[in-house]
Amino acid sequence: MELNQNKVIDESRQGEPVVLETVNHSGKKLYVESYGCQMNFSDSEVVASIMTKEGYATTRNIDEADVVLINTCSIRENAEQRVRNRLTEFKHKKGQNPDLVVGILGCMAERLKKVLLEEEKLVDLVAGPDAYRDLPNLVEEVGTGQKAVNVLLSRDETYADISPVRLDQGGISAFVTIMRGCDNMCSFCVVPFTRGRERSRDPQTIVEECKDLFEKGYREVTLLGQNVDSYRWNLTSKGEIKDVNQPTTNFAQLIEMVAHISPNLRVRFSTSHPKDMTDEVLEIMAKYENICPYIHLPVQSGHTDVLTRMNRGYSREWYLDRINAIRKYMPDCAISTDIITGFCGETDKEHHDTISLMKEVQFDFAYMFKYSERPKTLAERRFDDDVPDAVKGSRLNEIIELQLQHSRLSNEKQIGKTVKVLIEGTSKRSDEKLCGRNGQNAMVVFPSQHYMKGQYVMVKILDCTSATLIGEAVSLCN
Ligand code: SAH
Ligand code: SF4
Ligand code: F3S
Repeated sequence: MELNQNKVIDESRQGEPVVLETVNHSGKKLYVESYGCQMNFSDSEVVASIMTKEGYATTRNIDEADVVLINTCSIRENAEQRVRNRLTEFKHKKGQNPDLVVGILGCMAERLKKVLLEEEKLVDLVAGPDAYRDLPNLVEEVGTGQKAVNVLLSRDETYADISPVRLDQGGISAFVTIMRGCDNMCSFCVVPFTRGRERSRDPQTIVEECKDLFEKGYREVTLLGQNVDSYRWNLTSKGEIKDVNQPTTNFAQLIEMVAHISPNLRVRFSTSHPKDMTDEVLEIMAKYENICPYIHLPVQSGHTDVLTRMNRGYSREWYLDRINAIRKYMPDCAISTDIITGFCGETDKEHHDTISLMKEVQFDFAYMFKYSERPKTLAERRFDDDVPDAVKGSRLNEIIELQLQHSRLSNEKQIGKTVKVLIEGTSKRSDEKLCGRNGQNAMVVFPSQHYMKGQYVMVKILDCTSATLIGEAVSLCN
């Protein structure tokens, strides 16, 4: 599996920003650039949908845009710095075209509110994650010279009725947001401040959207949420029924409903919180071949005292118990994680316990970060950011090194096996090769022969790198 160091230390878990484009019509043009997590990419599709209804077409060419929107991330300081640099470039463009509207969306918009508009004068428009329905009005306000800001957070906005514009026409894999916000208050994390309270989306609208995607040729959906496994409909956080006259749905039931759409629709989800990963979810995953045996389960640290300071709500032992449960239900399940090095007060011993946990679990893949203090978080208010940057860095390098070995081992174990792959398209490196993922989320590359995008094929694995499995297609499935 891929372990690209840029990716690992980059903002959120994503690498390059993604630019959206729909078919061009005449009329006004919108350019959207997205940074941060998958939720942001999914939100940009909602934004594109809202703006398309107003007559905008999206473009990949910023120079022909009337409105430029940048969907941003605040998770670490370097994520915000990257966006600031980009905003400075946009300001130059505005110098050449004074009518251009530049707007900031997403987590940085929510965190900084009016600052980028009033004090730094980098943007004309600010819209937080729950304010996208208001974008057409905000753009109009800019036109009339008003200050266009909406950073209200909502307790119930899920954009459930908005069918996102899918910008990869002929796509195979789509994101479907099933819940928004986060109530966990991990002490290092800015997300509860930028995304607001946790709320789940009506299950019927989720199933409808996934059915529609399948009918349009998509073969994989990834259900998204900051805390996806705490999804609950008509249930309180304690599991009590809110309205006895209405049906209830928990996360396990939801993935089962989506899995029923078709055995040819793969179901994935991200990101799961260890405290909400129940045996019921694992049982359902094991029961359906089309629910992919892959769980991203961020551990953050291998030491219980650090986890307590982080306010993660579980101990090292609890986390390892969940890993054992996953392996009991699905011996072949791939498991990946997120780890932070150098959190406030982290000692050498605590760091070594993260290493020992990594050795015990042998993650197939991991995203690893240096702790970055974020304003307003519990950690900023309560603790000193006292681990020197050089120590954070050397600890990070140490765990990256170890993870590379584990990722390679995980791939080597696949050699000789024949795995089911959903073909996503041609390989980046060669037109004569196709690529796709197996259920465990490992990227597989193989000679095209007569196979095509969207098909499921059985591929015999012959070789690997730490990032990719290399094989040969042996037969078409179904
Ligand atoms: N909701 C997800 C994580 C969202 S943020 C979850 O709870 O797992 C993605 C990852 O960024 C986190 O898992 C964490 O490892 C990392 N992260 C979050 N805040 C950070 C900070 N202040 N400094 C460094 N890494 C951070
Ligand atoms: Fe942040 Fe914790 Fe919520 Fe994840 S669960 S988004 S790390 S507060
Ligand atoms: Fe970043 Fe916001 Fe996602 S802070 S990781 S874009 S929820």
